[in-house]
Amino acid sequence: MAVKSSLSKFIFFALAILLIISASADNCFNSIVGFGDSLTDTGNGFHFVSEYNPLPYFTLPPYGNTFFDRPTGRNSDGRLIIDFIAEDLGLPFVEPFFHEGRNASLESVNFAVVGGTALEDSYFTEINITLPLANVSLATQFSWFKQFLSNKYNNSSDYKRYLQTSLVLLGEIGCNDYNHAFLQGKNEAEVQPFVPKIVKRIGETINELINLGALTIVVPGNFPIGCTATYLAHFASTNEEDYDSSTGCIKWLNRFAEYHNDLLQTELSRIREFHPETKIFYGDYYNAAMNIYRNPEIYGFTEGTLRACCGGGGSYNFNFSVQCGHPSSMSCVDPSCYMNWDGMHFTDVGAKWLAKAVLTHLGTICDRPSSHAGVYDH
Ligand SMILES: *[C@@H]1O[C@H](CO)[C@@H](O)[C@H](O)[C@H]1NC(C)=O
Ligand SMILES: *[C@@H]1O[C@H](CO)[C@@H](O)[C@H](O)[C@H]1NC(C)=O
Ligand SMILES: *[C@@H]1O[C@H](CO)[C@@H](O)[C@H](O)[C@H]1NC(C)=O
Ligand SMILES: *[C@@H]1O[C@H](CO)[C@@H](O)[C@H](O)[C@H]1NC(C)=O
Ligand SMILES: *[C@@H]1O[C@H](CO)[C@@H](O)[C@H](O)[C@H]1NC(C)=O
Ligand SMILES: *[C@@H]1O[C@H](CO)[C@@H](O)[C@H](O)[C@H]1NC(C)=O
Repeated sequence: MAVKSSLSKFIFFALAILLIISASADNCFNSIVGFGDSLTDTGNGFHFVSEYNPLPYFTLPPYGNTFFDRPTGRNSDGRLIIDFIAEDLGLPFVEPFFHEGRNASLESVNFAVVGGTALEDSYFTEINITLPLANVSLATQFSWFKQFLSNKYNNSSDYKRYLQTSLVLLGEIGCNDYNHAFLQGKNEAEVQPFVPKIVKRIGETINELINLGALTIVVPGNFPIGCTATYLAHFASTNEEDYDSSTGCIKWLNRFAEYHNDLLQTELSRIREFHPETKIFYGDYYNAAMNIYRNPEIYGFTEGTLRACCGGGGSYNFNFSVQCGHPSSMSCVDPSCYMNWDGMHFTDVGAKWLAKAVLTHLGTICDRPSSHAGVYDH
């Protein structure tokens, strides 16, 4: 009995020490570097729209109400996927690059901007598509990143050291390229040719990141856009065949997102062959979201997943002329019952589930079993 007890004491202490070691090894990354659009922007958009009159909807309440108690520039009632990834990795929230007085000392840094596109704005001008809000291409975001590095560090070996301990979240990006085209009347056949161009641009950016020294890059794909209230309202159809009967999502739009994701994954495989030392993860936002659209009740979305929490009414609570933040718009009482926040973006809780699913999928992200059982065991 005594032997057994001291043995179990020993085991207990050994376990405790192991736990302490794994907790301190927990900071497998020192920083996160973000690129993307409104799904990732933690405040850069504010910088670009501060002169607008009227101010864009996302700078006004009820944006931010759930978590930050004020609008932060995030297109959500609360946190974004990148915020939950930072929380999971034990890092502070990723501050926007354009953040008065803070950027010089930033470790993690976010270049994502609301309205951001993968392609240059000249591409859209040529085909008569306008880009409302800040139009910032991926190349522009990348040029800011190089500016950030050269402001902060002396030479390329310093850049390398920084990037070796950074997790790069590249995207989602490209969604707006499609959104603007579709919502301005282009049809599927006209938008399809964007896809290889966008995927190529993402691939070029990955190569540039690898050249600078990045070792871990997460590249999320597109969401099932046929399930977002904005699209559901815009492409409302009387033909039942257009809808997936199990989810209520528009089938052709989801097929389009899958086409983007297929090409993106092929491109990632191609790059991995040339750079086996770099960990390039595909962030499967699509399937993470589809699981939720198929089983909303499991996730507590008692108000369904398609209808926006905040908006100007209609079947999906989305109306282009009365968007969330507009004086005549109305917000739901409990955003945690909703997946969709404002028509296009996710609620705090929606982003939390998506981040959780993606982190589970990327279980090897820190190259060791995770101590975040709470996050990885679902
Ligand atoms: C900080 O941001 C300002 C714009 O707000 C920019 O002009 C400046 O270059 C940035 N500084 C650093 C060190 O990144
Ligand atoms: C763009 O608009 C101009 C002027 O209306 C027209 O001449 C041109 O054909 C359009 N281009 C495309 C690609 O739609
Ligand atoms: C992008 O923004 C610039 C500056 O605001 C504007 O001149 C340009 O027309 C925009 N491009 C598109 C395609 O809307
Ligand atoms: C850059 O070089 C200068 C001079 O050698 C040095 O004082 C400084 O600490 C270096 N900066 C970094 C970030 O290493
Ligand atoms: C780069 O700068 C660091 C200081 O920031 C210095 O220690 C190192 O020797 C430099 N490396 C090269 C290749 O110049
Ligand atoms: C959107 O809101 C405007 C302004 O209140 C209203 O006139 C219009 O009928 C609404 N559209 C739909 C589809 O409900």
